[in-house]
Amino acid sequence: MEPTFQRILYGGDYNPNQWSREIWTEDMRMFQDARINSATINVFSWAKIQPSEETYDFSELDDIVDMLSRENYDIVLATSTAALPAWMVKRYPEVARTDYEGVRHKFGGRHNACPNSPVFQKFARNLAGKLAERYGSNKHVACWHISNEYGGECYCEHCTSAFRVWLRKKYKTIEALNKAWNMEFWGHLVYDWDEIVLPNALSDGIGYNKTAFAGLSIDYCRFNSDSLLANFTMERDAIREFDKDTPITTNLMGTYKALDYFKWAKEMDIVSWDNYPSYNTPWSSTAMRHDLMRGLKGAPFMLMEQTPSQQNWQRYNSLKRPGQMRAQSYQTVAHGADTIQFFQLRRSVGGCEKFHGAVIAHAGIEDTRVFREVKQLGQELEKLGTMTLGSENKAEVGIVFDWDNYWALEYTSGPSEDITYVNTIHQYYKYFYEKNIAVDMVPVDADFSNYKVIVAPVLYMVKQGMKEALEKYVADGGVLVTTYMSGIVDESDNVHLGGYPGPLRKLAGVWVEEIDALAPEQKNKAVFADGTKTECGLVCDLMHLEGAECIAKYGADFYAGMPAVTKNTFGNGAVYYIGTRLDTEGLNKIMNSIVEKALVAPVIDEPTELEVVVRTSKDAEFYFIMNFKDGEYPVPACFTGETDVLSEKKIESGETMKKYEVRIVRRAISK
Ligand code: GLA
Ligand code: ZN
Repeated sequence: MEPTFQRILYGGDYNPNQWSREIWTEDMRMFQDARINSATINVFSWAKIQPSEETYDFSELDDIVDMLSRENYDIVLATSTAALPAWMVKRYPEVARTDYEGVRHKFGGRHNACPNSPVFQKFARNLAGKLAERYGSNKHVACWHISNEYGGECYCEHCTSAFRVWLRKKYKTIEALNKAWNMEFWGHLVYDWDEIVLPNALSDGIGYNKTAFAGLSIDYCRFNSDSLLANFTMERDAIREFDKDTPITTNLMGTYKALDYFKWAKEMDIVSWDNYPSYNTPWSSTAMRHDLMRGLKGAPFMLMEQTPSQQNWQRYNSLKRPGQMRAQSYQTVAHGADTIQFFQLRRSVGGCEKFHGAVIAHAGIEDTRVFREVKQLGQELEKLGTMTLGSENKAEVGIVFDWDNYWALEYTSGPSEDITYVNTIHQYYKYFYEKNIAVDMVPVDADFSNYKVIVAPVLYMVKQGMKEALEKYVADGGVLVTTYMSGIVDESDNVHLGGYPGPLRKLAGVWVEEIDALAPEQKNKAVFADGTKTECGLVCDLMHLEGAECIAKYGADFYAGMPAVTKNTFGNGAVYYIGTRLDTEGLNKIMNSIVEKALVAPVIDEPTELEVVVRTSKDAEFYFIMNFKDGEYPVPACFTGETDVLSEKKIESGETMKKYEVRIVRRAISK
């Protein structure tokens, strides 16, 4: 793939406006020493560059841009629209959001604009246009960064009106809307579009996360995601009037729930994201998020933010251990990143982020552990040069991720409140991660034929066209793995009648008659044909075979002996239906046999405790070998005698790697 950038962007958020000019000079010297070649600027400067409704003042930003251009930085130029200036909120209170409780906010905070406020829209569009007019032709501007971490909701009058317009466009008639939301329930019929209100604590919301009408609430999620996306495209288009080709992005947040990132990615030139694992986040979970971010466009992405040391906003902001930031960065590159950027380059003197890690600490000197580690990585990335840029990650397994499904599954009331989307997806992802089997995270409308195995856990919402697409995929020889809580509702959250798993019933060859929910202290057993018994819980589908064969049965309770896991042959392919949450042993047992039969190959042919990921360019494969475990483990034997690109040393037979050590092996592809 053609790379977006000419080099690995290495840098991050830089807020020199918080500092005196002498410090700027000092910054340039220190950054150069650390091989920092990129700075993300102007992220939160709206009040500075537009001090009043009538005036703009770009003088300081000009100086910052000039300084960075002189020093040949790749500038990531943000549009500053993620935090409202005080004057604007004072003069136009409508620009501030109204929260879930119905309270209109005052000046303060950030990510705080009502997306449907015409006043906000006008000011934001103007600002983006002015910035592009002024800086768009500067060749050092490598990327536009619109707003920052779009997210949150607004429940104001402007949003209410816009929601009604959005609904009218979608449903055409009020009857269709009543039907879609099943408004006969609790006598909620509406007769006029003006009777519709947003689902929050004052109406149909139940707590923050639940709703009496999932159809309504899911539509609100879609609408809210679209509203914020319209803010993004509005600024993007304003930039494009003056700058035709610099890539435009905004920083996403992994599995962040409120925005349908697959839809967003279609409007973005390149995906970028902010990676902030906690001290106890499994490495598989971070890898999954990288794969999801890559999957949004099926292309390399930018790591817009990570901390070089610690965060400030988590409960326990532990330091990254020596080598951890480096290993985390290589994991990011391994999974498809073409940039490594930090939040931030110099630690704030005040405000709630003053304890957030940065390349330059409050001591202000290079002689710190963190700075040395940043510099070491900078030197290494400089050495990697353009080698890995634009290279691809190839996978034979696709895991389906869908935001509509995420919303619907988690809005659902019953059967168990412990069913959560990302955790369930991660349980399956982790299986592949531990085997070093590459995975693509794919949308529901992906071309499944690119994959030997498609895993669609908790595919609760089956939208129009999906039944046919999945049936075709399997009939043509594909292998589909799906689970409990699948095939239950349509896109409006109304049940597919006629027995679960609805549209997947024929394909899976099973009928789920009832769904039992198990409390955390309750367990059942999955009993396999060979006598193996493993634990299961959370929910248990009570199934009848309709053509499928039973792979494991329940071992306890009144449904002991009923199928818990099944396999159905369908055309040239097969469907596995896993009717309960299996423990690791049970899941591994099933997945091992699936992978073996489907001839899915891990990245290397030998078992290892290390994470191994491959990126492939036109002429080479890059094997990233990383140790995220506490123990010390041997480099897989297949790499013996090859050269580690980072240390330029030959890998010896029996050589071991300690926690956070990394090797990169380049294998030329012979033509
Ligand atoms: C987010 C924001 C940054 C900063 C970091 C701190 O990712 O985009 O502005 O607040 O969090 O971790
Ligand atoms: Zn609003």
